[in-house]
Amino acid sequence: MKRVAIFASGAGSNALKFLEYFDTIDEVEITLVVSNNPKAGVLHYAEVHGVSTLVMDRDYFCDTTSILEVLKSEQVDLIVLAGFLWLIPAYLIQAYPAAIVNIHPALLPSYGGKGMYGMNVHKAVKRAQETVSGITIHYVNEKYDEGKHIFQAKCIIDISDTPEMIASKVLQLEHEHYSQVVHRILT
Ligand code: GRF
Repeated sequence: MKRVAIFASGAGSNALKFLEYFDTIDEVEITLVVSNNPKAGVLHYAEVHGVSTLVMDRDYFCDTTSILEVLKSEQVDLIVLAGFLWLIPAYLIQAYPAAIVNIHPALLPSYGGKGMYGMNVHKAVKRAQETVSGITIHYVNEKYDEGKHIFQAKCIIDISDTPEMIASKVLQLEHEHYSQVVHRILT
């Protein structure tokens, strides 16, 4: 049995896909959902699926033992970031080498780095008149969006697409692929 913790800050639609997908898979369990945002939609989804939740503030996250103790006691094998906005501290990356995965809503290495999240990404893609965007699933290292790539998928952007339309195409790709790619990593 492989055990996964999901970290999320926002709406939690990717986290919901994970909870639904792994509900039917015996060899993987979502064991914990962690958020820095007490209002994050993901906390509600976790409760509905009977998964433990943890809401933390920055001091808790930056303290080098608190969250590690929880992750160790839950025997977490893999941490999945699903719209988690804080930089992962070095101590956590060292404790989980090649075991923290993120999804970025663009084709890295383009449109990544600090400040490149959510609609900022899609507005930048639109401004540059790109004809293709997509998703990048990658391991997490100490710099935003610079870890080793695991998987990319692309979508076509029409000239008339607004940033919101690009966001919706990209989110659809995320929902289609993220759980399956994580499943492959784990098994
Ligand atoms: C997604 O676009 C993801 O790529 C990015 O944050 C967004 C999260 O959406 N990292 P949701 O909270 O899963 O709905």
